[in-house]
Amino acid sequence: MNNKIAVMASGKGSNLQVILSAIQAGECAAKVEVVICNKADAGALQIAKDAAVPHVFYVNPKEYKNREMYDEACAAIIKKADCSLIVLAGYMRILSASFIQSFPNQILNIHPSLLPSFKGADAVGDALRAGVKISGCTVHYVTEELDSGKILTQACVPVLEGDDWYSLHARIQEQEHKIYPQVVHQLVI
Ligand code: GRF
Repeated sequence: MNNKIAVMASGKGSNLQVILSAIQAGECAAKVEVVICNKADAGALQIAKDAAVPHVFYVNPKEYKNREMYDEACAAIIKKADCSLIVLAGYMRILSASFIQSFPNQILNIHPSLLPSFKGADAVGDALRAGVKISGCTVHYVTEELDSGKILTQACVPVLEGDDWYSLHARIQEQEHKIYPQVVHQLVI
């Protein structure tokens, strides 16, 4: 196992940013070798370029016939760059079974709830609607069943009176930014 990682992201990329910053600060022993985004306007693309990540790709889903072919293209990039860990950081695409099977126990995800509560695409909204008083985030391995792989670590936050989606998500993200670089570090050392 080497320390090279691939990060897959679709959004603003704050988790990618904190991993890069932790590496820069000597707190995370990983090396971000590849960043793949499925959205041309993902903030993560610019963050990766600014940090001089060696291989930065926008892979356009429209150029592929199906999910399997798209994922094969991504897998080929990751394998060519010899990455031993794939870190999903706000990657809003379901991965195909064949992609997941070709990287057993090598794909991590961060999810904005205390799994197994609130699996799925709107964990923050679902937690608010359920009226829970504690929520948080979970780093887990990715398996074929959505948001159900082995839990590696969790952090919790209070849900406060008057919280909306944004205030709760911001509180959860503060914790994400602490735990994700730590877990990545533990897995590459
Ligand atoms: C995070 O809240 C994460 O839990 C979820 O997607 C969001 C990504 O945020 N999977 P960012 O793009 O890293 O800022």
